[in-house]
Amino acid sequence: MISENVDITGFTTFGIPVKTKYFAEYSSVKELERIMRTAEYQQSEVLHIGGGSNLLFVNDFNGLILHSAIKERTIYKKNDDTVYLIAGAGENWADLVRFSVDNNLSGLENLSEIPGEAGASAIQNVGAYGVEAGDLIFKVECYDRLAHKVVTFSAEECKFGYRDSFFKHEGRGRYYVLRVCFKLRPDTIARNLDYGPLKTLAERLGHAPSIREVSDEVTQIRDEKLPDPQRIGSAGSFFKNPVVRRKYYEAEILKRCAEVPCYDLPDDKVKIPAGWLIEHAGLKGCFIGGAQVYTKQCLVIINKGNATGESVAALCRHIQLTVHKKFGIWLQPEVNFIDTAVHVEILGSGTSKGVPEPACQCDVCTSSDSHDKRLRASALIRTHGMTLLIDPSADFREQALRSKIFDIDAALITHQHYDHVGGIDDLRPYCTNKKMPLFVTESVNEDLHRRLDYCFREHNYPGVPGFEMHVIDDLPFYFNGLKIIPIKVMHASLPIVGYRIGDFAYITDAKTIPEEQYEKLQGVKVLVLNALRKTPHFSHLTLQEALDVIERIKPECAYLTHICHDMGLHAEVSPTLPPHVKLAYDGLRFTVN
Ligand code: EPU
Repeated sequence: MISENVDITGFTTFGIPVKTKYFAEYSSVKELERIMRTAEYQQSEVLHIGGGSNLLFVNDFNGLILHSAIKERTIYKKNDDTVYLIAGAGENWADLVRFSVDNNLSGLENLSEIPGEAGASAIQNVGAYGVEAGDLIFKVECYDRLAHKVVTFSAEECKFGYRDSFFKHEGRGRYYVLRVCFKLRPDTIARNLDYGPLKTLAERLGHAPSIREVSDEVTQIRDEKLPDPQRIGSAGSFFKNPVVRRKYYEAEILKRCAEVPCYDLPDDKVKIPAGWLIEHAGLKGCFIGGAQVYTKQCLVIINKGNATGESVAALCRHIQLTVHKKFGIWLQPEVNFIDTAVHVEILGSGTSKGVPEPACQCDVCTSSDSHDKRLRASALIRTHGMTLLIDPSADFREQALRSKIFDIDAALITHQHYDHVGGIDDLRPYCTNKKMPLFVTESVNEDLHRRLDYCFREHNYPGVPGFEMHVIDDLPFYFNGLKIIPIKVMHASLPIVGYRIGDFAYITDAKTIPEEQYEKLQGVKVLVLNALRKTPHFSHLTLQEALDVIERIKPECAYLTHICHDMGLHAEVSPTLPPHVKLAYDGLRFTVN
């Protein structure tokens, strides 16, 4: 039932060659349960896919891919106004919509020909031509991977938003959709005709359009604008249409370019068509390797035939940077990046006073070697198409300028000491249109509310940074599908959070690592660990203590950080270390695969 080393290229619409370590398809809850209870796979990273129409595998997948083959289409008539259409998660979406039209059920017609499967429609809240799946979903039946039972969510509990739902956040990784129940009407009346070209359909036809006519019209528009999934690989819209505050749109975006269009949204917000921005940034047809901006609809990236996950990711970044430069908007991918590689940049490798220390004339502080210049400890992680900051250090502004950081999706905070959070106010440029998610422990949360009270008031001074606080304990949590494991270590008596992402772990300010936390570090390939100096310190690991910890965890490679001038010159200390242990330095970059 579970196959190994499987080519899953055909399970994605991008058509980029990709393999997975394990693959399993199931046709019933029983089969799914059997797979999920198989001990061997419980430690593996698990990814449940649908039609693969919204996925970009940047590299091969080193875990278990699940796919539902649950097929079902049941029509249940409740009364003269309401019919329920129950669809198995593995039903092809376009076939399901066609089935609803053939059976004279109205509601889904605007969503014709969207690639994908019924299960994913509830997760992604697919939408087109003025309708979203969430508008029609009555309930969703899921398998709860933790409780090993079937649970049902009402539409309200699904928390549908623009290409968004509960299943992409709190429910991510825990619930697998089994069946979706749509609430439709037993008639052929098309009721959603407000979107663009559909507005003129009644006039063009000379009568009120039927659901079949709308479905045909939508199919035709899609054929003209979007690549034929049978011939050209793509994942549909690659980016989301950015939603910004109207004030920001008027004051900042129109100032740069008076022609930028927008659509009104509730709450004084507007939606800006990303395709327009990409086209007007001069990127139509632009390509990197086999990845190209589709000429008929710039929101789509296509596979010219020889694209790799990396070339698509590189083109994505090029588009983000170019659009940002021209319009001041950072585009967010709509496509889910599956990227098990973790790219790390050490932004700062120094202790709380940094190196050189002001008012010090020692050899290290006066060294001209750039490796001896250490800003306060901080790191930037890029993985799964996201950028995460570990600690907005007191030197964050300088680090952001030096490393050309244009986007940050969230910040993971290790603890509340000033050298680790002193740059929090400098996150302002990254919070102009959104609240920045900050992952903090309860005590850091309280501390930051006290120290930065001006950021948390009901009526804030305009322009102060906005934060969305996520309080964590020492249990793994998910951010946009990425599993992050907190590791609780002790800085004398102060608890500090280290973080493990994939096979990379970052621990700073530790003096001791509690026994039970070592389990979470098993199999880490690259470890960043603090080592203050050679002589003892009450709250920091010394060089020898850090080497002992490394010896116990046994990573392939370890980098030492949070270093003070007493450690000595980089050039003199480096040759004394075991070959797999290195002193980190500011600007150091590496990738953990
Ligand atoms: N535009 C351009 N240049 C382009 C593309 C678009 O100027 O290259 C302009 C269009 O002229 C139009 C505006 O941007 O004025 C909006 O374009 P369009 O109506 O094609 O819709 P979209 O915002 O680009 C969204 C969905 C599509 C969906 C269509 C129709 C997102 C991210 N995309 O695209 O969904 O089919 O509306 O409802 O919301 C998908 O999710 O994969 C998808 C295809």
